[in-house]
Amino acid sequence: MTDLFSKFDPLIEQRETLLDSGVTDPFNLVMEKVESPTVAVCNGKRTILLGTYNYMGMTFDPDVVAAGKKALDEFGSGTTGSRVLNGTYVGHRAVEQALKDFYAMDHAMVFSTGYQANLGIISTIAGKDDYIILDIDSHASIYDGCALGNAQIVPFRHNDIEALEKRLKRVPEGAGKLVVLEGVYSMLGDVAPLKDMVAVSKANGAMVLVDEAHSMGFIGEHGRGVAEAQGVIDDVDFIIGTFSKSVGTVGGFCVSNHPKFEILRLVCRPYVFTASLPPSVVATAATSIRKLMDSADKRAHLWENSKRLHSGLRQLGFTLGTDEPQSAIIAVIMPDLEKGAAMWEALLNEGLYVNLARPPATPAGMTLLRCSLCALHTDDQVGEILGMFAAAGRATGCIS
Ligand SMILES: Cc1ncc(COP(=O)(O)O)c(C=O)c1O
Repeated sequence: MTDLFSKFDPLIEQRETLLDSGVTDPFNLVMEKVESPTVAVCNGKRTILLGTYNYMGMTFDPDVVAAGKKALDEFGSGTTGSRVLNGTYVGHRAVEQALKDFYAMDHAMVFSTGYQANLGIISTIAGKDDYIILDIDSHASIYDGCALGNAQIVPFRHNDIEALEKRLKRVPEGAGKLVVLEGVYSMLGDVAPLKDMVAVSKANGAMVLVDEAHSMGFIGEHGRGVAEAQGVIDDVDFIIGTFSKSVGTVGGFCVSNHPKFEILRLVCRPYVFTASLPPSVVATAATSIRKLMDSADKRAHLWENSKRLHSGLRQLGFTLGTDEPQSAIIAVIMPDLEKGAAMWEALLNEGLYVNLARPPATPAGMTLLRCSLCALHTDDQVGEILGMFAAAGRATGCIS
């Protein structure tokens, strides 16, 4: 018998080597208590959270929490069914209406996760004879959506407008074309040149899907994302998003103005063949989305936090993923996994949680300490964070 697990041996060995060095397992941390969007207790210690996707700090918003409790009392703990059978409650319709209002679009379809939204929409609209032209650094859920639909996949170099154009021109005449882009790329926190990319895609007869998972709520005048900030939202055919980041709960969605969009509810397998979100989740999401419409002050503070952390880390001597802060994500590039894990642990001991990211999630084989800021991080907390980076960086030899 061939042990089907033998393919994991290199990873098992790499993991054992890392843990044998005595470092805390960076992929097995337990939050013992979560006090707020920015503070938790880990290993019995008060820890500032700088590695969540809680960009707008909605998880403890009193209105959001109250809406969830009310729905739990009134509708129970779960729907136990698909959206197309017994799993559509008034709350599911309400959250779809909140999304339509938020994006000012005609249609909104809610999935159980953002992963499933990409899986479902991409695989359903781009099938066997169609072409998907996508940025090579696309999220795993985008690649998995492409694979599920069996379309021809044509990757192009990250954020390279000319490469996108070249690939588009090579697609056979008459074939269906879907260009898939992200607003913010979550590993380095860099933004896509959507204005030019959407123009090039449209000029070459392609439909465009933009995943705005890491920009919703924060980027753009109304928080609609990078497509809004760059003035091309009306030319984007499909926006994918998630409730697991700025919205502060769990779930995924697609919004669109396509006149035939609603048919997807009957043909999209990751929408049909799974249970719908619990009533408490859709109630928290709807309340949060409506509050995000009116959050300009929080957006401004989050930009301030991002700029201050970026310049502070740079001054300390760290190498960052972008020259300028472009989003709420600031990636600190580590020389290798060992140094990255040591720095991650030193920060945790200081009382700071960040994400340790490594291949295959990261581009170009990089090890990253990913910092994601929250609109509720105070000025004092950002100061504390910089102090912790200075201490941990010197202790591990990452900076002098
Ligand atoms: C770009 C992107 N799309 C989709 C997702 C999936 O979101 P969810 O957590 O809702 O499954 C993520 C999650 O990290 C993401 O980064």
